[in-house]
Amino acid sequence: MSTDGNRSRQWFGETGRSGFIHRSWMRSQGFTEEVFDGRPVIGISNTFSEFTPCNAHLRQVAEAVKRGVWQAGGFPVEFPVMSLGETLLRPTAMLFRNLLSMDVEESLRGNPVDATVLLTGCDKTTPGSIMGAASVDLPTLVVTGGPMLNGKFRGCDIGSGTAVWQFTQDVNAGRMSHADYTAAEAGMSRSNGHCMTMGTASTMACLTEAMGLALPGSAAIPAVDSRRYATAQRAGQRIVEMVGEDLRISRVVTGAALRNAVIANAALGGSTNAVIHLLAIAGRLGLPLRLEDLDAWSREVPWLADLQPSGRFLMEDFYYAGGLPAVLAELTDLLDDRAITVTGDSLLSTVTSAARVADTEVIRTREKPLGLGAGTAVLHGNLAPDGAVVKQSAVSARLARHRGRARVFTSIEEYDSAAEDPELDVDADTVLVLQNAGPRGYPGMPEVGNLTIPRKLAEQGVEDMVRISDARMSGTAYGTVVLHVCPEAAVGGPLALVRTGDWIELDVEARRLHLDVTDEELARRRDEWEPAPAREQRGWAQLYTDHVLQADQGCDLDFLVGASGSTVARQSH
Ligand code: FES
Ligand code: MG
Repeated sequence: MSTDGNRSRQWFGETGRSGFIHRSWMRSQGFTEEVFDGRPVIGISNTFSEFTPCNAHLRQVAEAVKRGVWQAGGFPVEFPVMSLGETLLRPTAMLFRNLLSMDVEESLRGNPVDATVLLTGCDKTTPGSIMGAASVDLPTLVVTGGPMLNGKFRGCDIGSGTAVWQFTQDVNAGRMSHADYTAAEAGMSRSNGHCMTMGTASTMACLTEAMGLALPGSAAIPAVDSRRYATAQRAGQRIVEMVGEDLRISRVVTGAALRNAVIANAALGGSTNAVIHLLAIAGRLGLPLRLEDLDAWSREVPWLADLQPSGRFLMEDFYYAGGLPAVLAELTDLLDDRAITVTGDSLLSTVTSAARVADTEVIRTREKPLGLGAGTAVLHGNLAPDGAVVKQSAVSARLARHRGRARVFTSIEEYDSAAEDPELDVDADTVLVLQNAGPRGYPGMPEVGNLTIPRKLAEQGVEDMVRISDARMSGTAYGTVVLHVCPEAAVGGPLALVRTGDWIELDVEARRLHLDVTDEELARRRDEWEPAPAREQRGWAQLYTDHVLQADQGCDLDFLVGASGSTVARQSH
């Protein structure tokens, strides 16, 4: 392994005053001087936080990574970065994804790091960390914390998030008691790990593996399975080798790798949020990825993973059934064989050599898919000139082609109180339209797009309605929910011009989202439209609203697109 050229030599290899400073203070931690002999310094970027329960065990995972780094002759240095917990952070963790990316980027660039292992788990922590690392372009390997064990309640498996949406609807409809509802809390989240449905965390863990950034077979290992720690140790060994091979993230995450990730997402019935994150990651690496590509690449992909929220099973079952490699092994003809993984081998060779489906109920074979082209569809029309998305595997057959009258809400708070009103003027065919929940409007594009069914209709047994917004929805949610409408209402997109009573047409198959209002009338409404007065803001929220891109461009900040590399010209002393 070549070590002289290592970037960290610019710090620890210096002989004069600066070298003294760089080494001496590190020695306060009790390291012997061999750590400065030129061996690769591996920065372990840790999104651990007790406010992010999904990532709360990542310090233990870091210890396993360190074992591997030491074993392979590297010097592991763990550092904390901002942690984004989906369940607690207000107004939405998405508001801070780009802030995490900046934290990761600057921490890597400014420190004596030769390569990095990113420890992630909860939804935004994975894409945020990858985006930051991509803008520095060092050898990079991702270790996710793994999913929780299956939730259990009254002898049944219950899925993170998905069961919350279901139970809440059951309580509203009088089918479940409050006591049972509370009891289910404890059974749902009963071990370390991230959501164990195919929500955004599991989706991003799998797509990270599909794009080659994680060790093959690692994404689905439950957080508490000993093999999670073994794979973390293996990652520590491998990242040291990657320094010698100069296997940078830009060599792994190529256009071919992104395409494989999109195909995997379609086969998994993965989260709509992945669309935004993949676009943002592509932007950092200068790769041309458009919303339309995601739709086109997904069209012929069979939906194979029968996982909640779209299907039946949970991540523990998925792991035992073969996990992502087994899914990919069914898709070898669709995968791009130019893509390599952090192992240095092609994804395709990794998949074909080892993987097979062990349970065809959980992972369908190519011959018996759950559907075809059931991934995230990209819709266009006068209501979404720059696109909108819908998760086809979660759409009700009754509503896939639908014409209904709009009932418009200008804020989620307005909707939430109206939804309780027994007199609300809606029926099962009404199209619920939510405005001002986009990246700038909220700000931060929260996961509120899966509006709960109005109580009055829930009590009548209505389980799904067409809902349209510029918001996102949780990857654990489901329903005929059109999301990410671009441009968003707050910047004057046509969504802002919809009025209660307008007819709206949705045709998922035809990829069409149409507001049945004449162009003249829309122009007239546009003249009348006034942007909402700017909320009083300062700090991050101000910077974010001033610079955030629309969802069709990944919601990155405009000045963060691209990369600056790993060079820092100036000294600190
Ligand atoms: Fe963290 Fe779902 S809340 S992954
Ligand atoms: Mg989420």
